[in-house]
Amino acid sequence: MKLISATANPHKYKEMKQIMAGKVEILPRPSEIPEVIEDAPDLLGNACLKAQAVVKATGMPAIADDTGLEVEALNGEPGVLSARYAGPDAQSEDNIQKLLGELSNVTVDKRGAQFRTVIVVLWPDKTYVTAEGIVSGKIALSPRGNLGFGYDSIFLPSEVAGRTFGEISDSEKNKISHRSRALTEISRVLLSIS
Ligand code: IMP
Repeated sequence: MKLISATANPHKYKEMKQIMAGKVEILPRPSEIPEVIEDAPDLLGNACLKAQAVVKATGMPAIADDTGLEVEALNGEPGVLSARYAGPDAQSEDNIQKLLGELSNVTVDKRGAQFRTVIVVLWPDKTYVTAEGIVSGKIALSPRGNLGFGYDSIFLPSEVAGRTFGEISDSEKNKISHRSRALTEISRVLLSIS
């Protein structure tokens, strides 16, 4: 099976290809497809918007991911707003600084958080399947490590003692990440319907 990736983020595309290797062929998003405004109220809605744009432009089935970082002490924020937490044109460093600022008075034991990824595979006939993946952890007191992307340098996954996602290799991240869990689940669904 061949799916066109709806992500414009090269880090996400790399992870998706690594995780799906040997299961589903993931082709890159054609660069001429215009940027999608991700203004749906939830992750599933945003993933559908991205998948729809690719299906419309290519006439091929698409796979889209939308991810949010949900912080307990902030009642689940930034969540669906994770990409533009510090403003509409925010870079990852800005989002990280804003989040650390919001948590400046929150002690280590109350810094629980999770990444949630929703994956959608959409076909031109409008049928679709979806899956979700979560990884639990904590928000670090300051950024550590320069691997990965986005919020990786401040996320301490529970399954890796004392290291952020920014301090572990792609293959270590891919064993436990929200994205790999969602993609593993969607692979199972795709196998069951093929
Ligand atoms: P989106 O799914 O591309 O909209 O991502 C939402 C926000 O979460 C962006 O700021 C991304 O950089 C960040 N993000 C998405 N996936 C990951 C991840 O695996 N690790 C760290 N940050 C991520």
